[in-house]
Amino acid sequence: MIELKTLILLTLLTLSFTDSFPVQYPAVFNFGDSNSDTGELVAGRGVLLGLPYGRAYNFGKLNGRISDGRLIVDFLMDALGLPFLNPYLNAIGVPSFKNGCNFAAAGCTVLPATGLSICPYSLQIQVAQFRRFKALALELQSESKELHRYLPSEDYFSKGLYMFDIGQNDLGGDFDSMSSHQVLDMIQTILAEYEVGVKVLYEEGARNFWVHNMRAVGCIASAIFAFGSDQSSFDELGCLKSHNQAAKLFNQQLHELWRKLKSQYSDANVTYTNIFAIHLDFIANHSRYGFKQPIMACCGYGAPPLNYDSRISCGQTKVLDGRSVTAKACNDGAEYVSWDGTHLTDAANRFISSQILTGKYIDPLFSDKMPFLLKPECKNQYV
Ligand SMILES: *[C@@H]1O[C@H](CO)[C@@H](O)[C@H](O)[C@H]1NC(C)=O
Ligand SMILES: *[C@@H]1O[C@H](CO)[C@@H](O)[C@H](O)[C@H]1NC(C)=O
Repeated sequence: MIELKTLILLTLLTLSFTDSFPVQYPAVFNFGDSNSDTGELVAGRGVLLGLPYGRAYNFGKLNGRISDGRLIVDFLMDALGLPFLNPYLNAIGVPSFKNGCNFAAAGCTVLPATGLSICPYSLQIQVAQFRRFKALALELQSESKELHRYLPSEDYFSKGLYMFDIGQNDLGGDFDSMSSHQVLDMIQTILAEYEVGVKVLYEEGARNFWVHNMRAVGCIASAIFAFGSDQSSFDELGCLKSHNQAAKLFNQQLHELWRKLKSQYSDANVTYTNIFAIHLDFIANHSRYGFKQPIMACCGYGAPPLNYDSRISCGQTKVLDGRSVTAKACNDGAEYVSWDGTHLTDAANRFISSQILTGKYIDPLFSDKMPFLLKPECKNQYV
């Protein structure tokens, strides 16, 4: 029943875009955190990420996504008719970067990393990696024609799509005990740094920008676990009010920044995507969309309603309170929005991607000339 519903939804989406496909991007360059990391952090840190990660989709040995399957960026690549993005740091298996490169890494921030950061590749470093990538890609191709197969040609850099999904790791803390002035200060510091990164890319010749705003971070089990001790902290959906309020404020400011960039860069396409609205509608109306669990982690440890404990992560076995426990995965990830209490399942990412592809959550509204085409069955691969 659920499957049928999903199928119909996807079929309708596909039909409505079949004959309106004006924009084609030859390549995608992505900047971000775990929400779009296709294996960067595990390559950088030398981690082999095994099951249950990736169990819902066969990526082969190269999986490094923090999910049971695909991420939004994977579904979007598929909709563009391009192969999955290889992470910049992937040195194994002759990866092709012909159609782009992914600089996003889990745990990354917009602001510079500190000694305590999980990820050293904050936005400025990702942008510096891109500049090195571009300079070397062009230089190497001028020396050897054979490398055309593996590297983007010069016009791919100007015609490519530059995607951003970052900020969630910057916007942290106990918002209940912060004044709105303090939250706004924090957001402005983050966005000033964000702007610097985008400007460098523009100066490098980037002309098509695509940004995802912040998710409804108050509806994430790990945040609720850390900050949800008081019943008065919750809204009617069971999400943390102050966290979602902070995300909304961040998004207002982010939208402002992208509007400003758009007016400055009259020769560029700047697209802002409201993931927050999609996410909140998803949580509120999950059963209508075929999901059973809006907040509880599929893979985790602990009692309902969260099945999450910050002391043990998905897949781990540990001694807690004197006994050995394992954070196991649920039977059917397709019933869950949340994979591990922080990241989303393959099914959830598919749903969010299908909502992006309606064009309704995009500024400028261009549902009539949506650049992506969602295929009913994503059977993408690396090349
Ligand atoms: C912006 O997008 C339009 C299609 O919507 C495209 O024709 C145009 O070339 C793009 N502009 C740039 C600067 O790439
Ligand atoms: C849930 O769906 C209803 C009906 O479509 C809609 O009016 C409402 O805005 C949705 N909830 C959220 C939080 O988006």
